Amino acid sequence: MYAFSRAVNSMHSEDIKQLMKQASGKNLISFAGGMPNNDLFPVDQIDDIYKSLPEDIKKLCFQYGPTSGYPPLIKSLESYLKEKGLPVGENRILITTGSLQAIAIITQEFVNEGDIILTENPSFVGALSVFETAGAEIHSIPIDKDGIDIKALKSKIASLDRKPKFLYVTPNYHNPAGIIYTPERKKQLLEVLSGTGIILLEDDAYSDLYFNEDEKHLTRSMKSFGVENVEIIYTGSFSKILGPGFRLGFMLSSEEIFEKAETVKQSMDACTSNFMQILANDFLAQHKLEPYLTFLRKEYLERKNLLQKHLKTHMPKEITWNEPKGGFYIWLKLPPHIKSTDIFKETVSKGVVFVTGRTFDPASKKDDRLRLSFSNMPKEHIEKGVIILSETIKRALQSSKISLS
Ligand SMILES: Cc1ncc(COP(=O)(O)O)c(C=O)c1O
Repeated sequence: MYAFSRAVNSMHSEDIKQLMKQASGKNLISFAGGMPNNDLFPVDQIDDIYKSLPEDIKKLCFQYGPTSGYPPLIKSLESYLKEKGLPVGENRILITTGSLQAIAIITQEFVNEGDIILTENPSFVGALSVFETAGAEIHSIPIDKDGIDIKALKSKIASLDRKPKFLYVTPNYHNPAGIIYTPERKKQLLEVLSGTGIILLEDDAYSDLYFNEDEKHLTRSMKSFGVENVEIIYTGSFSKILGPGFRLGFMLSSEEIFEKAETVKQSMDACTSNFMQILANDFLAQHKLEPYLTFLRKEYLERKNLLQKHLKTHMPKEITWNEPKGGFYIWLKLPPHIKSTDIFKETVSKGVVFVTGRTFDPASKKDDRLRLSFSNMPKEHIEKGVIILSETIKRALQSSKISLS
């Protein structure tokens, strides 16, 4: 028996380990994986990029680099973020090993054991595992179809005896809820935080994956609103727009926060892989990202439409969901007496997996939802998966009616 630290007890980390196994399980129809399908990756383009690198840059790929990131990639990211209206000039970019590392860095930078972090409910499980591992006290605020519940947020802040270190939100194409905050809700959120000293951690992993060009403006980040009196740390990722295997993310923050974050990162992994930064930089610098995103948007829209169509055809009327406008996820709502964990036990024995609702509840309890990802599975499996899931839900509804009567 070893004397393990408290950090090993994160319930959500256990959930993720399970999830990663299921997402990549052979012979499964998997709605579980929040990642692109392997067939969508820009393999040939990355091949060409590496082959055409000058010899000295190829050698640099194998080397350590500065903790803050590969300078040409920082420059390319500056242009990419400027395009999105972000205030790059007065802030600093730190390249991270995935945006999950940015979340971990920010947590180490600000959070001592027992400190309060505010999250949405539901919330991205990766972030929850980081917060739990740090020993934070997590308080969550419900979201609806337009974003975080403003009234609940205000009363939560008023009820606390200590100031939360930060509020963590994913406003664009939420994981798992699939929603996008309305511009109004983004504004209201900033108004609530204004002057409180609570930092806003804005996680923007999906904003490039809108389905409709006319709705691009809705993805505008809160950090670009130019609001004073709210400190915002913005994080982004290459995982959903280039490939999670790159393990590349970044954070944009004020100079003071950047400097301490760089110190934390140094102690974590010294620097992010030069190899991946160099390849990603050429992808951006050679203007390959935008055409690739155009391809991805079309592909994900098609997948979303397919899943939507089959759900409409096969799901019993008691099951509801919001149609997403971008991103990867549909968040099904079950009647309150049906648990997604029970549905899962049955579908997995029939070869269909998804992620249960309780995985995304900071308290690991609320279980009347399930997350279906349409990004990862072969398109031709979607209907079969939906039929198996619908039949299972119908049976659960039937037996709950029998036991109620
Ligand atoms: C909302 C959100 N933030 C961050 C991440 C982490 O991405 P990365 O692979 O860059 O660590 C994910 C991945 O699923 C995500 O859904």
